[in-house]
Amino acid sequence: MDMPVTEDFEPLMKRLGEIELYHDGEDWVEAESVWKRPLRPQAFPYTTFDSVTQSTLFNYSSLTMNRTLTALYEQDFLYLPAASDTIIQDLKAAYTTPLRTLANQLIAPLEEKVLGNLQHQVNVGGGWNKELFKCFLAEKLEPRGEAVHDSLSLIQSASDPQLMLKLLLMQHAVDFLPESSHMARFAKGDYGDAQSAVFRVLLDEFGYGKHATKHSTLFKATLKSIGMLDNSHAYWNFYLTSSLLNNNYFHKLTRSPECFFEYVGAITYAENSFGPYCGSVRNLLLQHFPDVDARYYTEHVHIDDFHGSMTLNEILLPLAERYGPSVYPEFVRGIEMSCLLQQIMEDDLCAQITWMNKRPLYRQLAMDIKHRVLENIENIPVAHLNEPKGELSVPHVHDGDEFCIVDEGLLRFCHGPDCFSDLSPGECVVIAKNRLHGALVLSEFCKYRILSIGDYRHYATYSL
Ligand SMILES: [Fe+2]
Ligand SMILES: [Fe+2]
Ligand SMILES: [Fe+2]
Repeated sequence: MDMPVTEDFEPLMKRLGEIELYHDGEDWVEAESVWKRPLRPQAFPYTTFDSVTQSTLFNYSSLTMNRTLTALYEQDFLYLPAASDTIIQDLKAAYTTPLRTLANQLIAPLEEKVLGNLQHQVNVGGGWNKELFKCFLAEKLEPRGEAVHDSLSLIQSASDPQLMLKLLLMQHAVDFLPESSHMARFAKGDYGDAQSAVFRVLLDEFGYGKHATKHSTLFKATLKSIGMLDNSHAYWNFYLTSSLLNNNYFHKLTRSPECFFEYVGAITYAENSFGPYCGSVRNLLLQHFPDVDARYYTEHVHIDDFHGSMTLNEILLPLAERYGPSVYPEFVRGIEMSCLLQQIMEDDLCAQITWMNKRPLYRQLAMDIKHRVLENIENIPVAHLNEPKGELSVPHVHDGDEFCIVDEGLLRFCHGPDCFSDLSPGECVVIAKNRLHGALVLSEFCKYRILSIGDYRHYATYSL
């Protein structure tokens, strides 16, 4: 049965946008609240909320819906601040019955809009058995040469590898801060041997109840050791669409018991592919931050080798033994989706690294095309902005290239975390399609214009 998309989707989003937690914050990062999740609700009336397709994956609607989904899914994750004198009030503001009701109404249509088309892309045939499945998994896990981690080689060759490594850790933070909380949803119920095997993996993830060795504690130590914030979700504004999307897929599976077998496929793939990846990240971290606490990554090289074999040999294969070969297509579906999402994350991250790395080039490009763009201004949609000091444009993306020019005052344009260009009157920058960026007014007031040029190549004699 197809899920009917509720007609009142937009009014529901509007109501969600009225909640303080989802309003813009004051700063690029959130150092105070562990519950604040800016969604830029002021832009909801102009957002299409169209179903996401392969070609609109990184568009504004997709970013907004993926942010919203993660925020709503995490309504059943408990977050507490390190300290507070008003904890009871705080908690009762962050978690409420009306918000849970709203989340319940919005999650299903959002899931369909965000994941529906991608899931339809994955077609799995029948005719599986243990041998075929094992070959399939081995092939999926086969390292595909250098191409597998393009993002890591881009970081290595970037002009500021430390900055890019921080961007990478921010993407990891989406999932690693509440690590394995998705999985904890499947610790509940009564379903035989597999349940206890899931629980054993969880025990490891939770450091056998010793907080110092809980995986998320190790990850926080990594963040702290290189001067980053370690509260959830300090870097919310810098999570890329694809990082949220992948996380949302695991939320969806673990909130839907009917997807348990697909989840088993997906988690088996994740645990098996994660170890080697962590080894590469650890090496890169140690190379560029000699004092980094890289225990999280070191630990996962070995533990996920173990979890990889546990998920396969103690959960997946015994389930197939118990229920017969008809469960294999579900495992395969989970693996195919995980691979697809990993590729999408890789593409998105590579594009963001490139965009940040080419910061001076996008400014030069803007100066080079400025004359031609302004000459054609009659034919271009223009937003005229006049904002007071301290006004923050929470990081976001556009569906085409944009041209930003300052007319009065000083604007701090943000190409990514800690990656800024301060623009004075007459100065400009091209904003690449789908790339995360933001802005902050540094002067008393700032007048600037955003021109939706669509494709900068209409105005340029070269491309970046
Ligand atoms: Fe872990
Ligand atoms: Fe693991
Ligand atoms: Fe923008």
